[in-house]
Amino acid sequence: MATEGRAAMLIEPGKPAVVEDILLDPPGPGEVQVRVVASGVCHTDLTVKMQNGAGMKFPIVLGHEGAGYVEAVGDGVTHLQEGDPVVIAYRAPCEQCPACRRGDPRHCYMALRPKQRLRRKATGDLCSQVLRCGTFATRTIVHSKAAVKMPDNMPLEKACLIACGVITGVGATMNTTSVFPGASVAVIGCGGVGLSVIQGAKLCHAKQIIAVDVNPVKLEWAKKFGATDVVNAREGDPVAAVRSLVKDPWPGYEGGVDFSYEATGRMECIEQAVRMVNYNGIATTIGFPGPDDSVTLNVGNIDTGVYWNKVNLRVCHAGDTLPSHDFPLMAQFYLQGKLDLDGMVTGEIALEEVEDAFHTMETGNVIRSVIRL
Ligand SMILES: NC(=O)c1ccc[n+]([C@@H]2O[C@H](COP(=O)([O-])OP(=O)(O)OC[C@H]3O[C@@H](n4cnc5c(N)ncnc54)[C@H](O)[C@@H]3O)[C@@H](O)[C@H]2O)c1
Ligand SMILES: [Zn+2]
Ligand SMILES: [Zn+2]
Repeated sequence: MATEGRAAMLIEPGKPAVVEDILLDPPGPGEVQVRVVASGVCHTDLTVKMQNGAGMKFPIVLGHEGAGYVEAVGDGVTHLQEGDPVVIAYRAPCEQCPACRRGDPRHCYMALRPKQRLRRKATGDLCSQVLRCGTFATRTIVHSKAAVKMPDNMPLEKACLIACGVITGVGATMNTTSVFPGASVAVIGCGGVGLSVIQGAKLCHAKQIIAVDVNPVKLEWAKKFGATDVVNAREGDPVAAVRSLVKDPWPGYEGGVDFSYEATGRMECIEQAVRMVNYNGIATTIGFPGPDDSVTLNVGNIDTGVYWNKVNLRVCHAGDTLPSHDFPLMAQFYLQGKLDLDGMVTGEIALEEVEDAFHTMETGNVIRSVIRL
């Protein structure tokens, strides 16, 4: 018997998201049905819309930063039961790819996915789910290993942020790179992801955390989350500004940070991240690129070229997370007062307001809008 739900979805390329009824077939083996309680709106959902589905087949149920309660479990699911509070991970390791087989699930090549079980009620068409989740919906079906149990006292309307923005940013500092105590760090872009990089760097005991953005309000917020210095990229060259902010008594020091992170999705910011690290520094790109996006990197400049400055470039996917380990840890950090999720929720909205949330994301002062279902 199918269950009914409502979902914000993209019906065709170039059109705004609409809220419609959906039908859910019961969860299959190894799958769970989740009654979604809250879902954060990440820039990647907007990117999926702007990139006309980013390769997914329409209709597409949006959302991948969700939390809720298990409503039904499929055959063979023993680690979860009805009523369990969960956060939905979009990268639950597949257990079969070369990385998983060699015991390195953080670098799994793909992720477990449910069979397509959501249908658009109006037409009966099977729906795609953004990043295998589809959390802008009153209920969804995901792979059971992607549903990670939360402690009972963890508020789900905050826990949802762990699923993408928080784990991506914090994980970038702890897993994609290992920020060491006393390190200098720069973060370009202070949205939900960038502010989580700042929080992660602070958790790793970085000495200096330089926030870069083009929006002065974001820079003020960055200070509240742990930035020690801020740079407005509209007011000059952010690379020169960041490099000059890092001091060391050693006479040969040319400035630059140990770790830089790009969290904007803008190509020029990747180049800036590469040029602002110090010798042997690590630049990490996080933003979601378009299919034709590319960057030109200087190799030979004596101060900032990737050869002479011995720059490392990393790519961060979901903070190289192992959700079964990292999500409960993030919840624990929150409950211990070490990770600020309350301050990251700048507004709670209804499902029907997804398009407004996209609009404010592009133009306004928002960290995360959270859809309450
Ligand atoms: N790799 C991953 O696993 C992963 C996960 C989540 C999000 N993302 C991507 O990360 C990026 C950030 O996501 P978000 O949700 O934080 O977005 P967001 O829109 O909330 O934040 C982006 C920030 O970048 C700032 N910005 C824009 N242009 C800038 C510039 N030239 N210089 C400095 N700052 C600038 C904006 O003012 C804003 O504060 C997006 O591209 C998103 O798709 C990637
Ligand atoms: Zn996301
Ligand atoms: Zn794998």
